[in-house]
Amino acid sequence: MANPNLLVGYDTSDDACVYRITDSIAAIHTVDFFTPIVDDPYLFGQIAAANALSDVYAMGGQPAVAMNLLCVPNCLSMETIRKILQGGHDKAVEAGCAIAGGHTIQDPEPKYGMCVTGYVHPDKILRNVGARPGDVLVLTKPVGTGILTTGAKADMTAKEDYDAMTASMAALNRTAGLLIQECSHVHACTDVTGFGLLGHAYEMASGSDVTICLHSADIPLLHGARELAEMGIIPAGAYRNMDYVKPHLKVEPSVLQVFVDLMADPQTSGGLLAALPFDEAQTLIRNLHQVSQTGEIIGEVVAKQDHSVIIN
Ligand code: CO
Ligand code: CO
Repeated sequence: MANPNLLVGYDTSDDACVYRITDSIAAIHTVDFFTPIVDDPYLFGQIAAANALSDVYAMGGQPAVAMNLLCVPNCLSMETIRKILQGGHDKAVEAGCAIAGGHTIQDPEPKYGMCVTGYVHPDKILRNVGARPGDVLVLTKPVGTGILTTGAKADMTAKEDYDAMTASMAALNRTAGLLIQECSHVHACTDVTGFGLLGHAYEMASGSDVTICLHSADIPLLHGARELAEMGIIPAGAYRNMDYVKPHLKVEPSVLQVFVDLMADPQTSGGLLAALPFDEAQTLIRNLHQVSQTGEIIGEVVAKQDHSVIIN
């Protein structure tokens, strides 16, 4: 029998599980770790931590305490390990989250991440389902990290584009999360990560029993990502995401293929995607821009049609 205190489990592929402790407090639990996506160990630590903390913000909560998960090969120097952990530590401090230990094992391939516990009022949980016809969709970070990372492996990503991308991945979703929590009618929220904008929008649409229309011209893009995608520099994960969504996707003939590729691009530590009424979205975007954060209306929610996602 289902535990009545388990408010969010894994049945809708939500960002984290939520467990009611009392009538006014629920614990959010999430874990994320991965192999290095950048060469700089301090930056890798920051990105891995920002990515792990993000799921707490996506659920409408605040991170409270985290545990490190670290896998290191014998050859990795103590100095490198220290820098990875320092990056994670600094992001946790920025998030107001304590690191209370962790676990390290030997592994031929290094990996780092965190298990994070956060909290939220049980009535204020934001789920990745619940979007309603009439809502618009707001995205709080530009997309293209998978494409720019792939380009960098072939020395095709410009230095300044690479730096802007890593800064975006290392940035916490904290401010965006707090501003979204200030809105009173957010119907659904998730963070854009491995499934790409397309995959996460599809999960929101199918779980909400609605159709989501994405406006290709309005998607914020990291500088340089479009040019690389036009040259066919697209990670394998983007094709997997496309295959996953394809049976439920309609692309209007006027849409350039490159935008579909960008929307399918798997993101590391991407932004929040929130469904909320237009008036509130406008206030949210104004507040985001005021603190120099990305915030764009990228689509809208309509009554369920033949396809779950329409790109126009
Ligand atoms: Co997530
Ligand atoms: Co996650």
